[in-house]
Amino acid sequence: MSIWRKKSIEALLQQAQGSNLKRTLGAGSLIALGIGAIIGAGLFVRTAHAASEAAGAGVTISFIVAAIGCAFAGLCYAEFAAMIPVSGSAYAYSFVTMGELVAWVIGWSLIMEYALGAATVSIAWSEYLNNLLGHSIPYAWCHSPFEKLYQISGDALQQINEAFPAFKLAVTEKVAILTTDQFALLPTQLAKMVTVSSGIMNVPALMILLALTLLLIKGTKESAIVNAIIVFVKVSIVLVFIAVGWKFINPVNYQPYLIPEHTSGHDGFFKWGWGGVLGGAAIVFFAFIGFDAVSTTAQEAKNPKRDMPIGILGSLLICTVLYVLFAHVLTGVANWSIFSTSGKEASVAYVIKTYMPGYQWLETSVTVAILAGFSSVILVMLMGQSRVFYSMSQDGLIPKVFAELHPKFSTPFKSNWILFVFVGGFAAFVPGNLAGDLTSFGTLFAFVLVSAGILIMRKSNPDIPRPFKTPLVPLVPILGVIVCSMMIIALDTFTLKAALIWMVLGLIIYFAYSRKNSHLHKK
Ligand code: ALA
Repeated sequence: MSIWRKKSIEALLQQAQGSNLKRTLGAGSLIALGIGAIIGAGLFVRTAHAASEAAGAGVTISFIVAAIGCAFAGLCYAEFAAMIPVSGSAYAYSFVTMGELVAWVIGWSLIMEYALGAATVSIAWSEYLNNLLGHSIPYAWCHSPFEKLYQISGDALQQINEAFPAFKLAVTEKVAILTTDQFALLPTQLAKMVTVSSGIMNVPALMILLALTLLLIKGTKESAIVNAIIVFVKVSIVLVFIAVGWKFINPVNYQPYLIPEHTSGHDGFFKWGWGGVLGGAAIVFFAFIGFDAVSTTAQEAKNPKRDMPIGILGSLLICTVLYVLFAHVLTGVANWSIFSTSGKEASVAYVIKTYMPGYQWLETSVTVAILAGFSSVILVMLMGQSRVFYSMSQDGLIPKVFAELHPKFSTPFKSNWILFVFVGGFAAFVPGNLAGDLTSFGTLFAFVLVSAGILIMRKSNPDIPRPFKTPLVPLVPILGVIVCSMMIIALDTFTLKAALIWMVLGLIIYFAYSRKNSHLHKK
């Protein structure tokens, strides 16, 4: 039995016709849905990380590069979504175009997108909660065991400042924070004076995941109104931050605009300068994840032909404009270099507190709004993951338990619990940056395969009605493949190694279990 065996598109469409979903969503609701799923930790945490590690103030350009990749892939998603309007997103599309093995690989990558995405946002949630509570949660209980904090104060700080002026340590309340690399450079005598704290487990991240898992099991669906309120709040805080922060921009922070040679912490194929901008794009790409969620609602769109591309591209465009302005203000108010130490966590709140005197109210309201906004992103991701698991389980690629429904709530509760253990494990024990980069990898990989899928499908099934057609084929899909592949290459080396292990593990499971248990095999 071939690993290229495909599910027939007719069977898939029949499955879709059996659905009771109503066509209620117009272009406006689709854009709101997109923005609700998009704006989150990518903007409020990873912008600062990308600036300090890879792109400098040029993170604004990183956002544009990432948006271009998303737009190409988004146009391909829109064609699939309108042609094969079923749940399961990229996984379902690839099963009919590229066969079972590729579908498995995409499904396996989507686990990275949704499950690790949820873990990343919950870790970011923990940072902002700790900020709201005045950093009263002990470091050990809100960080992974792979994270350490190097703090220095008093005489020792003075000595380090004299001996290592190049460190340019930012001093907050008489304490400065060192990076791991800086700490490694200290002579033993000075190193002994540094207070080192180690993480054990990220408890708040686990707590928010537990709360949202329980909510999902109960089947509380986010109503359109709740989503609309959250979108309004998120967009408002971004706009207020841009408007207020603009006055505090110090043009010196844009000199130099890109990270000069040999000063980047990014350990990838491209390191600094324009290469760093590309590395930054791979990091902030995370901020756009979620627009593909719009494509999963194709069955509920009033007029998919017109509304799907407007929903997908409209939410992308609005977010890109907001992101570029936001990044411009963030790196203009604070120098990108501080984000590798003191301003690393809850970066937006840190910048307001430190550089925007008189705006304490803004810091608090931004933090509260961010906590609410992150929760809705986590919810969408956990829901998306259980939807993909559900489709894979119905096809026999993963065990039946993932499709078993709760007798009372009719939700895939067992799947939700398994997911909680898996996502919780990452949230509690893995650093946010690694989880975030792996999320970007999984999503970019799925984008590459979806773009390639359009080319294949146009050849293999040219006559299927396509309510929306990707423009300029083959140019747009080819550019989608190229730009997204470039971003994959630009990811951190460690991330790429970890992703490779994940993909190999996926193949082992496919050949050991899924291939034999697939429903196509049993037919
Ligand atoms: N785009 C979503 C975020 O930034 C995943 O949190």
